[in-house]
Amino acid sequence: MPNHFLGVKDASIWFGKREAQVRALRGVSVFFERGTLSLVMGPSGSGKTTLLSLLGCLLSPDEGSVFLEGEVVNGLNEVERTVVRQKKISFVFQAFRLFHSLSAIDNVALGFELRDAALPGRMKMARDLLIRFGLGDKLNREPNELSPGEKQRVAIARALAGNPPILLADEPTASLDARAGKNICQILRNQVDEHGRTVVVVSHDSRWREFADRTITLCDGQVEKEKGSL
Ligand SMILES: Nc1ncnc2c1ncn2[C@@H]1O[C@H](COP(=O)(O)OP(=O)(O)OP(=O)(O)O)[C@@H](O)[C@H]1O
Ligand SMILES: [Mg+2]
Repeated sequence: MPNHFLGVKDASIWFGKREAQVRALRGVSVFFERGTLSLVMGPSGSGKTTLLSLLGCLLSPDEGSVFLEGEVVNGLNEVERTVVRQKKISFVFQAFRLFHSLSAIDNVALGFELRDAALPGRMKMARDLLIRFGLGDKLNREPNELSPGEKQRVAIARALAGNPPILLADEPTASLDARAGKNICQILRNQVDEHGRTVVVVSHDSRWREFADRTITLCDGQVEKEKGSL
């Protein structure tokens, strides 16, 4: 019995129309085990972000299935998919995507609010997360007063608001220097080891290999080869 915790089966997706149509994924089947960190590599345009968007219920495949905690989710309508996403999945991006006019702590508190508007104690939880990520002295800084590595730590803290079991990261270290990048690798690895989260990282950055349980390579919309790095 295959592990259907998180993954896609025979998934294909086309973008564009007629002559301009691109098949971004070609019958991809790949599953990710709970409590692991997987690295997805591959050249530009190979379908990495598209795969992450399927796993994150941001897109539906034209063919094939998407599995989330053992359920097929691509048959759900947009509203149902949004609910699933809010409960189970968070995203981290290369460009951080913080709210520029909000302080670090307000960015994280907003993450809690977006997931559960009725949740009490948001500011304290946001503060605790930022302190844990070494930003206790920068709680009130706005993003433009933070270094790229600090911004990404704020973005990860915001992504962790609401305790999502799954974290999907698209090139999370691409804008960071070596030291800040390694720090982010370690933080996401800890999310697996200490909190049992399931993390999928898309990256060109080979320093992720030592932090990943598994590396999947996409090429031209297909899984090319796979090699465990444990
Ligand atoms: N919204 C879209 N509209 C049209 N074509 C798209 C769209 N999104 C992706 N594509 C195409 O699908 C293919 C896969 O794109 P995708 O963004 O998944 O690649 P990627 O591996 O993430 O690349 P990169 O490393 O540059 O981020 C590419 O040919 C891309 O041009
Ligand atoms: Mg991409």
